[in-house]
Amino acid sequence: MTQLNDTLARPLRDLRISVLDRCNLRCTYCMPEESLHARGVFLRPHYLLSDGEIELLVRVFARLGVHKVRLTGGEPLLRPGFVELVGRIASVEGVTDLALTTNAVLLPRHAAALKEAGLGRITVSLDSLDEQVFRKMAGNRGSVQEVFDGIRAAEEAGFAKLKINTVVQRDINDHTLMDLVSYFRNTGHTVRLIEFMDVGNVNHWDRKLVVPSADLLKMIHDRWPLMPVAKQPLGETARRYAFSDGAGEIGFISSITEPFCGDCSRARVTAEGLFYSCLFSAKGTVLRDKIREGMGEDELVEVIRGLWSKRADRYSELRNHLPQRQPHVEMYRMGG
Ligand code: GTP
Ligand code: 5AD
Ligand code: SF4
Ligand code: SF4
Repeated sequence: MTQLNDTLARPLRDLRISVLDRCNLRCTYCMPEESLHARGVFLRPHYLLSDGEIELLVRVFARLGVHKVRLTGGEPLLRPGFVELVGRIASVEGVTDLALTTNAVLLPRHAAALKEAGLGRITVSLDSLDEQVFRKMAGNRGSVQEVFDGIRAAEEAGFAKLKINTVVQRDINDHTLMDLVSYFRNTGHTVRLIEFMDVGNVNHWDRKLVVPSADLLKMIHDRWPLMPVAKQPLGETARRYAFSDGAGEIGFISSITEPFCGDCSRARVTAEGLFYSCLFSAKGTVLRDKIREGMGEDELVEVIRGLWSKRADRYSELRNHLPQRQPHVEMYRMGG
């Protein structure tokens, strides 16, 4: 198979599928409660890709060079039959790395079955260990204890190395980060501090709320000296550092101050089967209806090949040169 490159010579390597747009939390930077008042904001079941349709798309993308698949949402664990879906995707030839992004609240119920079904890795979203700060950022839902219970369930099921995603917002959770970093040192898990991004249209993004990763790096390095870790060859979102005392690693995802579009190899499919070539795209390409009208695997391969070979997205690199905030699809539809 020859490598499929876009117009900037970036290969297609990763597929991120949002399996459901609903969530049991209401994080203010993603799905703020007040933005959901309109009735019918969430997809009705018929509009969601079925398990078979998702599996078909994974086969299509695997034929084009995708080895790494990440399942996102919303909250994927709310999707009925999610464990079976994981099993089907894990069996697709060519998929060697299957990962899940979750808020962990439902992991105690599902972690062991997910391992059994072939899930390889889990990333847990957790913004603070301070209960009040957590509740504020999660829209008054969930609790730190529930996330800890989820993390423990994942560990017990054999997911030894979790990634912990922490979105950082100035004067909201930045004063609680050192506790969080300290807590996860020596656990085998890796905290990644994420700059608050201007995804979607409803999260009241304001550059003043962004804490540049460089400032956090300095703060952490002053307390626990850090050494840079070599970048993986392709498409890594995080810049990683190792604690010099051997306590593990920490990552920084700096889409605002240090964009990483240069080697972005990520394709995205939403729960309703729209293909997006960038997290910040305004418009997607309908795949679900093509499948429902009878388009088969070979033809879908050609559709995706055509889309990827025309791809030129590098939004994060252009952000500072754009006149105003552009409209783009919500993160909980697109997947993280
Ligand atoms: P691995 O699969 O382990 O490499 O993890 P990952 O870093 O690709 O995935 P993860 O979902 O953990 O990404 C972490 C966060 O980085 C996401 O929740 C987003 O906030 C952000 N992110 C991921 N991909 C992109 C991207 O393509 N562009 C931008 N701007 N941000 C991204
Ligand atoms: N900025 C940065 N990251 C975000 N996420 C969601 N919304 C944002 C945002 N506005 C990420 C969080 C969460 C994942 C599902 O998506 O890291 O863990
Ligand atoms: Fe749900 Fe994750 Fe969005 Fe929070 S960031 S509302 S947990 S999908
Ligand atoms: Fe990739 Fe778009 Fe993110 Fe850049 S902004 S890294 S092109 S998804």
